[in-house]
Amino acid sequence: MARERREGRRRRRDTDVSRRDFFKTVGAGSVVAAVVQVGSDVDAQGPPAVGPGDVAITLTINGQRHQLKVEPRVTLLDAMRTRLDITGMKRVCDRGSCGACTVIIEGRTYYSCSLLAVESQGRNIRTVEGLAQGNALHPVQQAFCDHDGLMCGFCTPGFVMATVALLEKVPSPTPEQAKRALDGNICRCGTNIGVLAAALKAKGAQRG
Ligand code: FES
Ligand code: FES
Repeated sequence: MARERREGRRRRRDTDVSRRDFFKTVGAGSVVAAVVQVGSDVDAQGPPAVGPGDVAITLTINGQRHQLKVEPRVTLLDAMRTRLDITGMKRVCDRGSCGACTVIIEGRTYYSCSLLAVESQGRNIRTVEGLAQGNALHPVQQAFCDHDGLMCGFCTPGFVMATVALLEKVPSPTPEQAKRALDGNICRCGTNIGVLAAALKAKGAQRG
């Protein structure tokens, strides 16, 4: 799973206009013409260039459609947290190394700090807010409580989403499979033993 995230980031670097390129380009008004030129190149290979001003987008998050306007440089994480008040996913490193912002998109985990909101359209984005059903916690959330899988809780939503993605694919993972799936997430409070226990003992987590 962590490997998928790394590969996903690598693919985006290879094929799309990168986030760094967006920052560089959008920040320099004098190169707007260059953006248009780049856009014509991109047209031939993929989606047309957008921006640099606000663009209207629609995000589908936990089954609900949200319409908003964002600059193309805005990440999915910031769009959710600062525009839509969906704050379960945390911004910690903001550079794709800690996993606190992990979401599930079409069954795969992604760092939402490393995806642009504009490129996240048309896909079903799942966050920790979509797990519980009423007052009933999702089995993975319950397992984190039962096995002391959290202390300050800041990393917890990301670990929970990575665990959910794992168990939906592999309902009874081995310890090695669980460790590998969760190695893209970091806990600075040292709850890894509890997190691993939760991942191995959560029951009925594959309902997603
Ligand atoms: S905040 Fe996204 S990986 Fe750390
Ligand atoms: S519980 Fe505090 S960072 Fe993980």
